[in-house]
Amino acid sequence: MAEFKQAPADASAGGAFLNWIDNRFPLTKLWNDQWGTYYAPKNLNWWYIFGSLAMLVLVIQIVSGIFLTMHYKPDAALAFASVEYIMRDVPWGWLIRYMHSTGASAFFIVVYLHMFRGLIYGSYRKPRELIWLFGCAIFLGLMGQAFTGYLLPWGQMSYWGAQVIVNLFSAVPFVGPDLAILIRGDFVVGDATLNRFFAFHVIALPMVLLGLVVAHLIALHEVGSNNPDGVEIKAKRGADGHPLDGIPSHPYYTTHDVVGVVVFLLLFSAVLFFAPEMGGYFLEYNNFIPANPLQTPLHIAPVWYFTPFYSMLRATNPLMINVLSGIIALATALALLKGRLGTIARLALALGALVAIGLLQTFDAKFWGVVVMGAAVVILFFLPWLDKSPVKSIRYRPGWHKIVYAVFVVVFLVLGYLGSQPPSELGTYVSQIGTLIYLGFFLLMPWWGRLGEFKPVPERVTFKPH
Ligand code: HEM
Repeated sequence: MAEFKQAPADASAGGAFLNWIDNRFPLTKLWNDQWGTYYAPKNLNWWYIFGSLAMLVLVIQIVSGIFLTMHYKPDAALAFASVEYIMRDVPWGWLIRYMHSTGASAFFIVVYLHMFRGLIYGSYRKPRELIWLFGCAIFLGLMGQAFTGYLLPWGQMSYWGAQVIVNLFSAVPFVGPDLAILIRGDFVVGDATLNRFFAFHVIALPMVLLGLVVAHLIALHEVGSNNPDGVEIKAKRGADGHPLDGIPSHPYYTTHDVVGVVVFLLLFSAVLFFAPEMGGYFLEYNNFIPANPLQTPLHIAPVWYFTPFYSMLRATNPLMINVLSGIIALATALALLKGRLGTIARLALALGALVAIGLLQTFDAKFWGVVVMGAAVVILFFLPWLDKSPVKSIRYRPGWHKIVYAVFVVVFLVLGYLGSQPPSELGTYVSQIGTLIYLGFFLLMPWWGRLGEFKPVPERVTFKPH
């Protein structure tokens, strides 16, 4: 047991109380390790506010969710009406509900920006791989959270969106139909589905998410934050043992983050009070109609944050399967002709390509659509090992790498837009090209990430006092 420390004789009542706690629970130590004297690079810019904003939105979602649950009824016969009751009769219910629905979209905006920051500054690279992996798991959890939550109001889009997505699982060879029944708890989306989605949404997934966020932060504070220069500040320490380019998070980044929080809350409130539906993007108009299992809406689209992935799913039709088969054949032929491979490696490569093309052609395109959509998310987990560039930050990469990142962002936005629109011939072609660019960005990264003239990375971070 650690020795009891006496509070100084002149300590205030608060100081003495804190000392009493610290002798029994490491409160001050936790605060100092995780924030108070956690030395962060002094050159962190505005891209670095999204982590704390994500935590803020998480709190908003949990608190508003608790209040919603007090009046919501997870029953197919009552759910829709209970949400209307919250909106019209529960005091401030409309505010709580709009906080939660706007919060869902805000969460994805903040998290997408947070992930993009990681991408451009190479924050996923050694020694921060685990921070990134926990982050990717959080992203998956968040998608599950949004998907299960969207069924709860039991509107037309809730119902048919869940129907479409759960049906996708039935495309999995052999086990698919049983898997879909297992998820639904019934042959169609129904009361059993609503109850299990409710259980996942209000308890299982939030617990997983909270655990993952804690792991994410512990891993971050173990290795220390990256920064816009991608320079490891721990390599140069002063006489006091602290990094020369580091500053304590408190008060410096506390103030920085508070400014971010104020700006965020201004924007958040503007949407919440003046445009909570956001033109049908945050709350879809069809979802104001009660779920009707006998009437399929003309156009079913998920909420905006899923639409890039939904586009990739829709893009995977028989033509796309042929294109993918062609790409595999071409890449294998090139590797066999140009690569310096031994006989066994050549045989293995040719056999692997044949099996891949055979599988592509054997199973239904719908199944491969699910695979492509899943791969688009799962590939993020591999980013730390796909990026082989000699520098971390975009600042020291060749100029044209910035264009590659810009194309990636534009493609992601275009896929997002197309996924929200009814399918069209042109839209499908564009989504197919977009899907190939999205996947190519990651899969070819070990190759293109190394190409070009890299700028020298400075030994210390660059910082202009203001
Ligand atoms: C609930 C969601 C999340 C929360 C609350 C959260 C929280 C945080 C916080 C507070 C930081 C430190 C401040 C900052 O660097 O911005 C951070 C850093 C980081 N996060 Fe997250 N995060 C979340 C999701 C994600 C996701 C989805 C990813 C990636 C897939 C991710 C990847 C990272 C990385 C790589 C860092 C280190 C950045 C650096 O040092 O440059 N995070 N996160």
